[in-house]
Parts: sequence; structure tokens; C-alpha cells
Amino acid sequence: MRIDILAVIPELLSGPLQHSILQRAQDKGLLEVYVYDLKDFGLGKHRQIDDYQYGGGAGMVLRPEPLAEAIRTLKQQAGGYDEIIYLTPDGPRFNQSTANQLSLKRCILLVCGHYKGIDQRIRDVFITMELSIGDFVLSGGEIAAITVVDAVGRLIPGVLNDETSALTDSFQDGLLAPPVYTRPANFEGREVPEVLRSGHEANIDQWRYEKAMEKTKHRRPDLLE
Ligand code: ADE
Repeated sequence: MRIDILAVIPELLSGPLQHSILQRAQDKGLLEVYVYDLKDFGLGKHRQIDDYQYGGGAGMVLRPEPLAEAIRTLKQQAGGYDEIIYLTPDGPRFNQSTANQLSLKRCILLVCGHYKGIDQRIRDVFITMELSIGDFVLSGGEIAAITVVDAVGRLIPGVLNDETSALTDSFQDGLLAPPVYTRPANFEGREVPEVLRSGHEANIDQWRYEKAMEKTKHRRPDLLE
């Protein structure tokens, strides 16, 4: 899978791509991530990318021309995109189901906004999907984009092995994950539940299911509706 990211501050993206599972996915040739700087498509000598908003009000808006030029250029370079996704707090909420769907795509472009966002005409013409990572406002789309890359990248077939399998993750079966324990069996007087040390697989599965259900009912009843 190939993920292109169009960013205002590309420097924000480099760290997370160079570690752990995302690095391994790239090393295995299962994921390619390319980061592009919107300022390279900026207007004039000062490479301007933003401007005041029509109608007045605080905050700058990313101008349509650099975005259009960038998206057209990248689209041609990539040989087309399956989705062109704009990260924005007013988009539909990103979740595990969307991550699963995106992990099966061949090539996507993530567009990061900044300040008050991007000119609406770019959303109308080029954007095929919008995503918010939660009901809060980040300073820009880069951190949202890297969140999507991480959640999607680990689901690409072949990226995770048995040890890191996504099948037991929270949300993957519609429930929050049950508690987990490792050694020692007794930590400062607190014991690991007996059933987990019993070696009885069916009982362990049953216990995990009950704990997952309990936690989900308590913390996220909306997931059970
Ligand atoms: N850009 C700023 N805030 C965001 C959010 N919550 N989700 C996605 N993109 C954003």
C-alpha cells in the first residue's frame, strides 16, 4: 500500500514513521509513505499558502491554488488515488472499521489542513473522504494523519505477526480489550487471576470475553447498541 501525505509542517511526520511497526511495514515493502510539503506549491516568491478568510473572522485559510496544484501533481505522479482524504475536526469520526477498509486500498492521499482549514472549493472538487480523529481541535492535520497511517498501516495484510496480531485489539471484535497480565504472578500482593494461569483455553476465552463485555458496558455502552 502507498500513502502520500500533503503537509504544511512535514517535519511533524518523520519521527513516527521511523519506528516500530510502521518502520517494519516499510522495511518489509508492504507500506510506502511519501510526505510532501505544501509550501513547495506556494504562490510567488514567498511561497504563500494561506490568506485571510472572506467574510472576516480570526484565522487564516489555506488557499485553493497551491492545494489544487499539489493534488493534481501528486495524483499524476501516483497514477491516481483510491481516496483523497482531508483530516478535519468537522469530518466523520475515524474508527477501526474505517481503518480496516483503508488498509485494503492500493494508494491514498492524506491532506493536512492548518489554521482555520482549507478553502471549501478544494473539499468540493478534490476530496473524496473526510475524517476526524476525535472531538477536539489539533493545531493541524499532521498529527491526525500520522494517527491514521499508524492505525491503517498495522492492519495491512502481512504487517503484524502472531505476537502482534490485530485480531485481539480493542474494537476489532466490537468490544474493548480485556485486561492483560505478565510476570510476576504476584506483584506487591496483587495476584494474576487464577484462570489465566490454568492453561484451560476455553475458560480463558470465556473469562476474556466476560471482562471485555463488562468493560465495554461500563465505559462504552454505545459500542453495544
Ligand atoms: N485537524 C485538526 N483537528 C483535527 C481532528 N480532531 N481530526 C482530524 N484532523 C484535525
